[in-house]
Amino acid sequence: MVGIDFGKPLFTREEIQRKIQEIGLLISTDYADKDLIAVGVLKGALFFMSDLLRSLRISVRMDFIHCTSSATKGQDGNPVRMLCDMKEEIKGKHVLLIEDIMDSGVTIDYLKKMLLERGPASLKVCVLLDKTGRRQVPIEADYAGFRIPNKYVVGYGLDYKDRYRNLPYIAVLPVEERQVP
Ligand code: IMP
Ligand code: MG
Repeated sequence: MVGIDFGKPLFTREEIQRKIQEIGLLISTDYADKDLIAVGVLKGALFFMSDLLRSLRISVRMDFIHCTSSATKGQDGNPVRMLCDMKEEIKGKHVLLIEDIMDSGVTIDYLKKMLLERGPASLKVCVLLDKTGRRQVPIEADYAGFRIPNKYVVGYGLDYKDRYRNLPYIAVLPVEERQVP
């Protein structure tokens, strides 16, 4: 059995929910008179997107992109492998890309460029966590929850080898847990 109790959370359930209410208010105001499509990046954004969209005071449509990021570029030269593209047509639409964490920035940068080629009316990025000190490309999120130091975190959608996503809070992954197969 792989346990998921890591002791002290970096961010508790309550802290996460409070932050989501703050971001939700900003987004509700910014898009008050706009038709918005929220695009979640699976799997990491699952819980964040679910809570964030339910905190909004505006009606939105939702879609998903499923991709994986690799530290080294794949055979096709892409740093991101697309597993499933979104279904909605976004030409002329207002799009908000929702991701769990921005680290080097490479994944969001790649996805932004891909979506911009489709001609949206606007494209913004919302992340729950931001490791600002780790950027490899000059990119910032339009909405960011918490800035965090260079620590590997799991929970609330974030994984280590696809585990720990269902932890209801965010915790720093203990070094010994990195041995999990
Ligand atoms: P980036 O392309 O370097 O910005 O990284 C993006 C992806 O790396 C995220 O979508 C996450 O899947 C993963 N990632 C980066 N840092 C962490 C972390 O601390 N915990 C879990 N996943 C992370
Ligand atoms: Mg991810």
